[in-house]
Amino acid sequence: METFDIQRVRADFPILGREVNGKPLVYFDNGATTQKPKQVIDAIVNYYADMNSNVHRGVHYLSQISTDAFEVTRRKVQSFINAAHEHEVIITKGTTESINIVASCFGRTFIGEGDEIIISAMEHHSNIVPWQMLADEKGCVLRIIPMNDRGELDIEAYNALFSERTKLVSFTYVSNSLGTINPVKAMIDLAHQHGVPVLVDGAQAIQHIPVDVQALDVDFFAFSGHKMYGPTGVGVLYGKEELLNKMPPYQGGGDMIKDVTFEKTTYNELPFKFEAGTPNIEAGICLGDAIDYINSIGLDAIHAYEEELLAYASEKLATIEGIRFIGTAATKSSVISFVVDGIHPYDIGVILDKLGIAVRTGHHCAQPVMQAFGIPGTVRVSLALYNTKEEVDLLVAGLERAVRMLK
Ligand code: ALA
Repeated sequence: METFDIQRVRADFPILGREVNGKPLVYFDNGATTQKPKQVIDAIVNYYADMNSNVHRGVHYLSQISTDAFEVTRRKVQSFINAAHEHEVIITKGTTESINIVASCFGRTFIGEGDEIIISAMEHHSNIVPWQMLADEKGCVLRIIPMNDRGELDIEAYNALFSERTKLVSFTYVSNSLGTINPVKAMIDLAHQHGVPVLVDGAQAIQHIPVDVQALDVDFFAFSGHKMYGPTGVGVLYGKEELLNKMPPYQGGGDMIKDVTFEKTTYNELPFKFEAGTPNIEAGICLGDAIDYINSIGLDAIHAYEEELLAYASEKLATIEGIRFIGTAATKSSVISFVVDGIHPYDIGVILDKLGIAVRTGHHCAQPVMQAFGIPGTVRVSLALYNTKEEVDLLVAGLERAVRMLK
């Protein structure tokens, strides 16, 4: 696509043609999951209609074509994030599993009692709880990068958190509850000056911002397929070869072994060492179609379009009486979180739903963020490439109505 053609993009997403509660669907819950273009839906049907078979196991034709297609996705991911080697791309269930692999395999091997892990105040639970579980098991300690009241991390305080005992830093690229884009490159460089590896949670970045893991020099990078117009149940853990080779496997089972006897098992090489059991084959293959879809439009074009939409939506929503934005960082991506004086976010969500408008309400799996702002939750509008200014206008009209009814 040479220029960003919103009507052509919308025509690719069949679900956008449906009604909800008698109104045309307006879908603003893209931070939770994105809708799928027909190119991905067709690929899923095609997989089951034409090639269904297990991967990495059979000499027969179907197994070979499904294995080839699965491995094509690995190379598409490699190229999408510019990894140096395809075996640095581990296919997982999603971001949560990717982070758990690092916590379990890197953490259990290299982090011990009294060691420290730095995370940030704006993490999703999936980048808090795995480290707390490790801390319970190993006696290591979490250090938290604080944020200001705009929802921006305090980089001086971050620098001051490093000690001789710091073993890992893990933070999000884009906050799912605030929309803040963190200065990832500077934060990675700082950690490396202290000799500490970094995991970046890219779940809310990968669909909006071009990612180059070699340019970032990031050690681990995690993301999910379903937030980037692909199927659920698949995601990626990128890791530097040197680190992945030093880590033990995550789970035991088929595919992750070279040889098994009752006396001794030798493990398979990367990436299969971390991919025990039959994977979500259809999702793994069709993640490649989602990447093709994004590439056919271009992440730069998507980013520019979404930035314009974010600015428009922020300006229009600011006219709502009693609105308070939660997360007003100087650099933001695609998420607008807010509360309205005297009204519970849930009530707003229910009224918007009656108007066919889907938003997420609550703590967004980031309870510490809500605690920091002293609120139980927010209404979250999260944008995707198929949203429009007209949809923003419907949202604003719906909100005005909700505020009139609930005040
Ligand atoms: N992590 C997803 C969200 O932010 C589910 O909604």
